[in-house]
Amino acid sequence: MSVLKSFFQNTRKPQGIGGKLMLSRMNARHNANARWGLAHIEIPPAARILDIGCGGGQNISNLLDRAPQGIVYGVDYSPVSVEKSKRKNKKAILQGRAKVTQASVSSLPFEDGEFDLATAFETIYFWPDLLHDFMEVGRVLKENGLFFICNEIARPEGAEKWIEMLNLSVYTKEDLSRVLLEAGFCGISCHEHPNGKWLCVTAQKAGRT
Ligand SMILES: C[S@@+](CC[C@H](N)C(=O)[O-])C[C@H]1O[C@@H](n2cnc3c(N)ncnc32)[C@H](O)[C@@H]1O
Repeated sequence: MSVLKSFFQNTRKPQGIGGKLMLSRMNARHNANARWGLAHIEIPPAARILDIGCGGGQNISNLLDRAPQGIVYGVDYSPVSVEKSKRKNKKAILQGRAKVTQASVSSLPFEDGEFDLATAFETIYFWPDLLHDFMEVGRVLKENGLFFICNEIARPEGAEKWIEMLNLSVYTKEDLSRVLLEAGFCGISCHEHPNGKWLCVTAQKAGRT
């Protein structure tokens, strides 16, 4: 594997020094996309939020700003990401407003119905089983809770270099809508940036009838 390809593999699961460098880079470079996406959702000030695949923790920080009386949990399966997210959000962790845990999306270490909002920024490309993993997200959401997905790559066309380099699974809004419906979500809403590249999707966990 080339040195460049091996460095970029740190987007999938940050490891070692290269992983630390990549996490700093992602905190800076993903933020415009994340802020654009977050402008599409209302967040109750006291929301309980879960950021899945939290990487370097920039979005834990963004979400804490949006929910000033809330609490934000981060999970990531990479120990290097967990460490970086903890360092980035040290103050909020000490105040009991944030908590970061090592875990895979496929088996979240939370009870059913714990969260008002679950977020996934630039991470679903790597999830091993989209339907199962979306169902697992649904499990930890409260009834009528919101699942928010934000991606910088909205379609495979034009992203071939990254798909090959990072071994990404890129999903269109149609793919995501179909799997979200199958996983039991409703009220699905997709927003595309005028740049033709960015996509964010919101979906609600159905309440009991
Ligand atoms: C491209 S980075 C994005 C990080 C951050 N969300 C951001 O927007 O900058 C993807 C992150 O998702 C994590 N990740 C990938 N697959 C995962 C899984 N199955 N469970 C938990 N975390 C996962 C990786 O370890 C990595 O930190």
